[in-house]
Amino acid sequence: MRTVRTVEDLRSVLAGPRGEPGAHSVGLVPTMGFLHAGHVSLLDRARAECETVVMSLFVNPAQFAPGEDLDAYPRDEERDTERAQGAGVDILFAPPREVVYPPGFATSIEVAGLTEILCGHPDSRGREHFRGVTTVVGKLLNMVGPDRVYFGQKDAQQALVIERMVADLDFRVEVLVCPTVREPDGLAMSSRNAYLDPAERERALALSRALRAADRVVTHGERSASAVLQAARAVLDEAGVAPDYVELRSARDLVPVDRVNGSTLLVIAAQIGQARLIDNTILGDSSR
Ligand code: PAF
Repeated sequence: MRTVRTVEDLRSVLAGPRGEPGAHSVGLVPTMGFLHAGHVSLLDRARAECETVVMSLFVNPAQFAPGEDLDAYPRDEERDTERAQGAGVDILFAPPREVVYPPGFATSIEVAGLTEILCGHPDSRGREHFRGVTTVVGKLLNMVGPDRVYFGQKDAQQALVIERMVADLDFRVEVLVCPTVREPDGLAMSSRNAYLDPAERERALALSRALRAADRVVTHGERSASAVLQAARAVLDEAGVAPDYVELRSARDLVPVDRVNGSTLLVIAAQIGQARLIDNTILGDSSR
């Protein structure tokens, strides 16, 4: 595995395999590091599907609001390097801030609509969060030029926003969204789980329990959004978790739904101690 920190080095390392005869596919897994099994599942999928696997490692300041956890965000490049190597990554692209945002940087990419709701609502992280994500992902796609790029379903809204950006701006890349990876007790893997103390971690389990409770009532035939949401909220209430939001939305375009029908996404966000956690599940048809 080669670690590179500049766009010039990245492109010159990629030029080798790309110059080989025959089709040569490049897969990109964008990360902010502090790798867990969820990231490794994306790397495994990329490894299985692409000849060259690039992992980016960059804690993107543009997607953190002032007062959010940018400085506290967990970082361990040495451990990430070992994990990436173990997962068969060919190129680790770990640029310093000034390579991504050189002096004078003044451009951003913004997807309207999808970024103004849920985590993009002004009472939540705000649309600026997604503007930071799409701007850096757009840059990474231009820097690496991958054939495929991999994201996790845990960040369902992020994945839909990126799919929209890729379609709208004709990025020549296939976006793959891979299943959420969970701890054995159901907690969705997240780098921010590192903030949880044992009592908070116990409370955080209410998110996945709430998703399962909703799934159960749907399996038993309930379709009304209010009843399904009630099942999820009851679990959160019992655990003393006041959610930022619990909502049922279309899994295709995040439009609110009043019945579970086809592909419906149940999304939850909650602040537990220092950690803002999100989780989701697809109820009904699970075609995604
Ligand atoms: O999902 C993440 O870790 C980040 O939002 C991403 C896609 C790497 C962009 O910084």
